[in-house]
Amino acid sequence: MVDKDRLVAQARGMQEMAYVPYSNFRVGAALLTEEGKIFTGCNVENSAYGVCICAEQTAVVKAVSEGSKSFVAVAVAGDSDGPCLPCGACRQVLSEFAKPDMVLYCVGKDGEVKNFTLGEILAYSFHLEEKNFD
Ligand code: THU
Repeated sequence: MVDKDRLVAQARGMQEMAYVPYSNFRVGAALLTEEGKIFTGCNVENSAYGVCICAEQTAVVKAVSEGSKSFVAVAVAGDSDGPCLPCGACRQVLSEFAKPDMVLYCVGKDGEVKNFTLGEILAYSFHLEEKNFD
């Protein structure tokens, strides 16, 4: 699948941009929008640890601020032992702009890509209003 390979490669590439002096754990993300655009992100840490920004959130903020508000897939790359999955906060942030069938391509240091859906990893998510997914 072209999108998958391209997204995973871009997420991997973004690990290089990560600013991680505290954890030294580099994460890259690549988001595919409904209209076929890709927005990338990396984690950006801070000496006030609580305001560290995850790679997925960097990508979401870049996309939304450029006018894209509907995502169909995301690749997340880290040097974890298993696949690098989005944290709980990132799952919630993604769910604001994606349907439960959004696909996640998650890859760790061994390079094996595992596929998930957002609905699978964030069941019964919180939203103020019922979402119209049409
Ligand atoms: N991190 C992400 O970028 N995305 C996630 O979904 C999980 C964690 C970052 C935050 C921090 O900079 C580093 O990984 C270690 O937690």
